[in-house]
Amino acid sequence: MQRVAKNIGTKNIGIMENPFKFGTVVDSPYFTDRIEELAVVRQALNSRNHLVVISPRRFGKTSLVRKAVTESSRPFIFLNMQQVTSVEDFAAMILKGVFRIHPLERIKHLFNHFRVIPTISSNPMTDSIDISFQPTVQTDLLIEDALGLVEKVSDADCRIVVVLDEFQEVLGLEKNIDKKLRAIMQEQQNVNYVFLGSQESMMTQIFERKRSPFYHFGQLMRLEKIPRPDFFHYITSRLETITSDSDSIACSILEETDCHPYYTQQLSSVVWDRLYYKKEETIKVVTNAISQLVTAHDLDFERLWLTFNKTDRKMLQLLCKGQSPYEQRQIPTSTSFSAIKRLMQAGFVIRTDSYAVEDPIFRHWIKRRME
Ligand SMILES: Nc1ncnc2c1ncn2[C@@H]1O[C@H](COP(=O)(O)OP(=O)(O)OP(=O)(O)O)[C@@H](O)[C@H]1O
Ligand SMILES: [Mg+2]
Repeated sequence: MQRVAKNIGTKNIGIMENPFKFGTVVDSPYFTDRIEELAVVRQALNSRNHLVVISPRRFGKTSLVRKAVTESSRPFIFLNMQQVTSVEDFAAMILKGVFRIHPLERIKHLFNHFRVIPTISSNPMTDSIDISFQPTVQTDLLIEDALGLVEKVSDADCRIVVVLDEFQEVLGLEKNIDKKLRAIMQEQQNVNYVFLGSQESMMTQIFERKRSPFYHFGQLMRLEKIPRPDFFHYITSRLETITSDSDSIACSILEETDCHPYYTQQLSSVVWDRLYYKKEETIKVVTNAISQLVTAHDLDFERLWLTFNKTDRKMLQLLCKGQSPYEQRQIPTSTSFSAIKRLMQAGFVIRTDSYAVEDPIFRHWIKRRME
């Protein structure tokens, strides 16, 4: 279990800062547990194997891998494939990543081997580098040369780590790009690749479907929720400076969020604000925080609700009432099955011990509408 620094949540000037963080990548002091998972990532980086990390949305994939890679002191290139718009762009981003590790001046000579010479301009004011390619070239050469450069500049004793976050997005760049990438990557000796993506996306298909070029390409790691005792300690240690009821509040928070990393931090953050700024009674604070979040997201949920068909709506309502999708008699089993599948793929329903609406705040919104 991770120890929390004593001064967490405090600032020297006397005003405390909210000690919970959600929505962005987190590191200490907002990062808890994941001891075993960090060890798995570390071991993978210290091996010749590549790593694939899959979990439902917002379970902490990016935070985990970023932390492990940064702590490893290995050179790395971290790309979010959602920001890559074309194969040219992909190659340019890889090259930019290489220049962050090795200054352009020192590896300039290696460009002699490039079949398409990129135009590289540096901006001395911002220290940034722009890379572009002529538009009509064969794109596989670009990515082959760019990834080839990573391999060349990588030291066998301190291999470069290339993290491709939201990797499923690569499929949208060009037809057969997965085949081309796999052909390049499988020949490389000095690069560790880490692929991240969410369960609802194509990730499972890319790495687990037999016919996919990336079938079993790396060690697969499925990230779970954060264990309850760790999250409990994380919350109470941050609340006990402002309330004497930290244990019971932490229990109620975790009961609502079921240890989902993002929603737990989100709800805890609102609870903390209400305790600290509003001096609210502890008995009601979690319920009030939920009401606040439901109201804040009302418009988004309303819009979202309108996008579901009638069966999906019915299914979501049943799950919110705590019913099993297959035990009820209102919807035929085959229809229930396809609705659940659809809702899971879209990330609205999650299955751990049983099926549940993923977002606890959306769950409350649905319940409120049924009253
Ligand atoms: N180890 C952790 N300890 C505490 N909170 C965490 C931890 N990891 C993640 N979180 C919480 O979950 C949120 C989402 O984390 P992160 O963005 O790393 O997840 P992700 O799985 O990459 O999400 P996405 O599917 O959106 O890419 C963080 O903002 C934080 O609130
Ligand atoms: Mg992420």
